[in-house]
Amino acid sequence: MSIIKKIVTFKPSFNLRVIVGLISVVGFLAACAITGFSDLTKALGEQDAKYTARAIEAGAKVYFDQCARCHGADGKGIEGQGPALSSVTFLGKKEGKIEVQKSQRLLDIQWVGNLDGYIRAVTASGIPLKSSNQWEVTHPAFGQAYGGNLRDDQINDVSTFILNWSQAPATAGIIDSPKPGAAFTPKATAVPLTPEQEAGKTAFLKNGCNACHAIKGVAQGNIGPNLSTFGTTAATRFTEADYKTSQGKAATADEYIHESIINPQAFVVAKCPQGACPSGVMPPTFGKTIAEGDLKNLVSYLASLK
Ligand code: HEC
Ligand code: HEC
Repeated sequence: MSIIKKIVTFKPSFNLRVIVGLISVVGFLAACAITGFSDLTKALGEQDAKYTARAIEAGAKVYFDQCARCHGADGKGIEGQGPALSSVTFLGKKEGKIEVQKSQRLLDIQWVGNLDGYIRAVTASGIPLKSSNQWEVTHPAFGQAYGGNLRDDQINDVSTFILNWSQAPATAGIIDSPKPGAAFTPKATAVPLTPEQEAGKTAFLKNGCNACHAIKGVAQGNIGPNLSTFGTTAATRFTEADYKTSQGKAATADEYIHESIINPQAFVVAKCPQGACPSGVMPPTFGKTIAEGDLKNLVSYLASLK
């Protein structure tokens, strides 16, 4: 009998037919299940991503309303006000969902939970004491359960927003929390002005010096040199070679300051905010228009700017 004939006349037994039938049904169901499941996981993944995106968006609003004033709009921290929340030290680093670097901050403070928990805990309940005298403020308690104004979902959202920075934490100009126990030297508090210097400051504004000169926190002029640290400049200016070859006659810092007000042409400063200092722009008449007493006050005030 040829093979072909064998195949054509083949009559499978009842059992065999049942087995083949069962296998096809199970196979068909399995194929359906696999495609179904992968669709389902894909759909769930998409839902998850959408949910996270919505949380980040809602969290951003909370952050800019309530946190940015102390932690900075870019999360880099603000001197005296609050530490960076967008930094590798604080967040570690993630690539996609994989953590490629741990948060050094959590290791330093020996926090046993995860970062999300730490962020939510600090945000909700605040920090009882300033953990370092670096900060001028203590942390507000934002959670409604702790007397604040944020609901739990808002706290979760702001944490999601902050954690999202771990994909690309800020790298420059960061003010991280100091290491626990690190020594910290507070900035020297500004020495208050003497009554004479205070009167000099008033004379500075009254005579329109602020139209051309900047002094940090006092004036924003940008024609003449910035005088924010002029006391330091004046202390050595009269000893410099280019001064000695000018028409200037000052032999002390005070004489130099006095001279630059009443006789600005004697020595023309090299650098101004907009390039080389123009000669003849600063009025040469202050020696006549400002009373001797006020001139003395002005000198004393300008000498105090260090
Ligand atoms: C009034 C200023 C201020 C505001 C507003 C503020 N913070 Fe803070 N935050 C601080 C200070 C100060 C610290 C450090 C406190 C300390 O270490 O004692 C801090 C610390 C933190 C820390 C811990 C950082 C670390 O390095 O351990 C987190 C997280 C945090 N803040 C989250 C938030 C969130 C979220 C908001 C907004 C809902 C917020 N903060 C609003 C001042 C503020
Ligand atoms: C119209 C613009 C203008 C006004 C107003 C003006 N200055 Fe000036 N000032 C300049 C310019 C430009 C220079 C730099 C050129 C020079 O040295 O003469 C200068 C230089 C100076 C310097 C020397 C700075 C240095 O680094 O050595 C002092 C001090 C100074 N001004 C103080 C004053 C005071 C005080 C007043 C007000 C009574 C005043 N200026 C008003 C434009 C002005």
